[in-house]
Amino acid sequence: MSGGDGQTLWHGRFAGGPTEALQALNDSLPFDQRMFREDIEGSRAHVSMLGDVGLLTSDEVASVIGALDEVETAIANGTFAFVSSDEDIHTAVERGVTEIAPAGAKMHTGRSRNDQVVTDLRLWTKAALGDIASLVLTFQRTLLVHAEAAGDAYLPGYTHLQQAQPVALSHHLLAHAWALSRDFDRLLACRDRLDTSGLGAGALAGSSLPLDPTNTAQRLGFARVFDNSLDAVADRDFVAEALFCLAMTGVHLSRLGEELILWATTEFGFIELDDGFSTGSSMMPQKKNPDIAELARGKAGRLIGHLTSLLATLKGLPLTYNKDMQEDKEGLFDAVDTVRLTLLALDGMVSTTAFRIDAMAQQASSPYAAATDLAEHLVVAGTPFRDAHAIVGELVRRALAGEAPLVDLVAADQRLGPAAADLLAPGVSATRRTTHGGGSPAAVEAQLERFKAQLGADEARLPGLLPTKR
Ligand code: ARG
Repeated sequence: MSGGDGQTLWHGRFAGGPTEALQALNDSLPFDQRMFREDIEGSRAHVSMLGDVGLLTSDEVASVIGALDEVETAIANGTFAFVSSDEDIHTAVERGVTEIAPAGAKMHTGRSRNDQVVTDLRLWTKAALGDIASLVLTFQRTLLVHAEAAGDAYLPGYTHLQQAQPVALSHHLLAHAWALSRDFDRLLACRDRLDTSGLGAGALAGSSLPLDPTNTAQRLGFARVFDNSLDAVADRDFVAEALFCLAMTGVHLSRLGEELILWATTEFGFIELDDGFSTGSSMMPQKKNPDIAELARGKAGRLIGHLTSLLATLKGLPLTYNKDMQEDKEGLFDAVDTVRLTLLALDGMVSTTAFRIDAMAQQASSPYAAATDLAEHLVVAGTPFRDAHAIVGELVRRALAGEAPLVDLVAADQRLGPAAADLLAPGVSATRRTTHGGGSPAAVEAQLERFKAQLGADEARLPGLLPTKR
């Protein structure tokens, strides 16, 4: 892959070459070659524009584009000979093109790597966010399939990780799915906002040559062109925003992962993981571990790290381009890879998980889980809620102290009585919260329809998201 030495892009001004230490620290090729397609696409657009405005002849344009095609194929096949002076992908492509076509020496006319790199990175991020958004939808579908299959199954709902009120299993699964809907929306909004071409901003100030930034923006499929050349090359808020959207998605996956971990414990026993999506222990033969869910939880940490790392990098930078900004890419690439893999693995894990609805129902059938229903029963009969809360609270205290089972205390209480005691029968409480967006199976019916409509509308946005070129 690596060839001999070559010249730096700035060799004219310098008597000697760069030191090894400078090169090792400075070179971004090891990671930014990942953007080679975007870089070449950007160069095709730039060179075509140079032809349109008369700075290159049509023969020159054709020969440079032919060379760009060749370089693209060689890099894709792994046959491109990189050399040690290829500081970054931009340098490597320009060198490769110029070796094939002498007119390649005109390719960088009116362009700087500063407007080039930001344009490449916007193209790359735009495609990557579309890809992640589509995987988010796939995972939402998986949750929906389980939510629909759950029927009337119910489990305890928790606050403070203490049993609170029973809810439908479908309700719980959809809660995660709705959070992912917002992630999808955020990823797309971020994608729309970063859809701006930076080409034509030059190093920082534009150009004395008759460049046409709108021409290149249109050729590259960008929605708009930059308004201020300084801002165009200095702005990395689109990367920070993408990192936030990815971190937020990662945090949602982490919370879901945490629940899967809890639910798979012997103590909860709410789910049984598929062997293919679990691991064993090297020593303890009985173990079956939820590693994917643990990694979903663990990976969220590094996603948050990438976001805070970039914000820290940017906070002190004067306008415009500073080399610090080269630090934008590795975190972004890693964040995209991390969220991508996590979504795929969690999707597989959740698709194959068996829900133990008997264990869930058993845990949710504690008479204490219906305490709020008792208080609301009194409210319907005219008791102020605060008094009702105190009445039921006292019965709970007496039952817990061992005086008698709660159901007997309720049945014997003049203010409550046998009709109220019926509310404590297993499964009854879970059906009672029928208000809009509430946790009973009947309320979830309507929610499922709303969710399906939302997911369908989101899926209809997909064709516009996935890359058309490349
Ligand atoms: N590799 C650089 C980066 O990723 C490209 C821009 C270099 N610009 C410069 N003025 N040295 O940011």
